Amino acid sequence: LSEFRIGHLEVEAPWGNAASVVTNVHDAEILAKSNIGWIEAGPFTPEPREGNGPGGEKTTHYDVATGAFHNCKGMPNEGIEAAARLAIPEMVEIAEEHGKKLVVNVSPTTPERADKEAQELVALAYGAGAHGVLLNAGCPSIVREDGSRQENPGCDPQMLGKMMLSLADVTKENYPVFLRVPPAGDYPEMRSRLRPIKDSVVSVIFATNTKPLNESDGQYLDVPGETGGMSGPALTEFGRTQLGWALAAGRIGGRNIDVVSSIGIHSGEELHKRIRSGAIGGAGTSAYYIGTEHGLGLAEVTDKIITQFAFCQDLTPEPAEECFN
Ligand SMILES: Cc1cc2nc3c(=O)[nH]c(=O)nc-3n(C[C@H](O)[C@H](O)[C@H](O)COP(=O)(O)O)c2cc1C
Repeated sequence: LSEFRIGHLEVEAPWGNAASVVTNVHDAEILAKSNIGWIEAGPFTPEPREGNGPGGEKTTHYDVATGAFHNCKGMPNEGIEAAARLAIPEMVEIAEEHGKKLVVNVSPTTPERADKEAQELVALAYGAGAHGVLLNAGCPSIVREDGSRQENPGCDPQMLGKMMLSLADVTKENYPVFLRVPPAGDYPEMRSRLRPIKDSVVSVIFATNTKPLNESDGQYLDVPGETGGMSGPALTEFGRTQLGWALAAGRIGGRNIDVVSSIGIHSGEELHKRIRSGAIGGAGTSAYYIGTEHGLGLAEVTDKIITQFAFCQDLTPEPAEECFN
């Protein structure tokens, strides 16, 4: 029996890649052979998407000096229906061969019907054999036709509430869902946004998605509307704070919803710190992109973090109280 669990999934290590790392069967296989706890595949959206860089536009930027990672990939993918037919079942099979869990990331793209989309996406992902499904409540990188940034349903408690209601039926025959939430500006905001999940089918909060970019962050990417998100080592403190808020918000209504921490985990020591602060695990994307820039493969990045973590023995809780001071 492993000491680590992510919702209904028993995992060998408290670390998984986050979205936009594994988008094909080949990458899933590389990570299945690593020491990773779970593999997050996706994003997958209702319709196929080219993303924001179909012509080779720059959609990621890493500033070595500050440690800030910018991205506006815009979720390029083949669409959930095609993926559910072929890629997802294959990835599940490969994960199982190596004793790993495959979590499928799904993301609604139309804010007005995010509830219906979420329902269809989760049903298709579980139908394709996913061990777990992670619903991305909102992406900061979707550009509207007029070039502006689309609203994020995860920032709208009413829409989040509707999404939760629409998932109740789907998850009756399946497992609960994991929910990736956008970062909040302060604790009251996190708390009011997450209130709708208190009686819902969400078993684990993934906190959080990237910090939406604004003008003052600089314009390094080839997309209009300052669309996109920031993550990476520059946001380690930011990630710790979001974790504290998500843990507290997850206790609304006495439910005590588990939290997987993200944003700025680039070492086993930082993963250890987040777990001592109350997270049940950690996940990241920037670590893989930055690792690739330094010539490291997906398995090497994973194994470095997990091995460093293994040397951090003391798991006594050390509450992340500083974020409320
Ligand atoms: C290049 C890139 C693309 C991302 N795409 C998605 C996405 O499509 N869906 C999603 O749920 N999260 C997406 N994320 C956010 C990650 O899941 C995760 O929340 C974030 O990267 C955490 O910050 P970290 O990379 O510093 O750990 C993306 C992040 C990056 C860096």
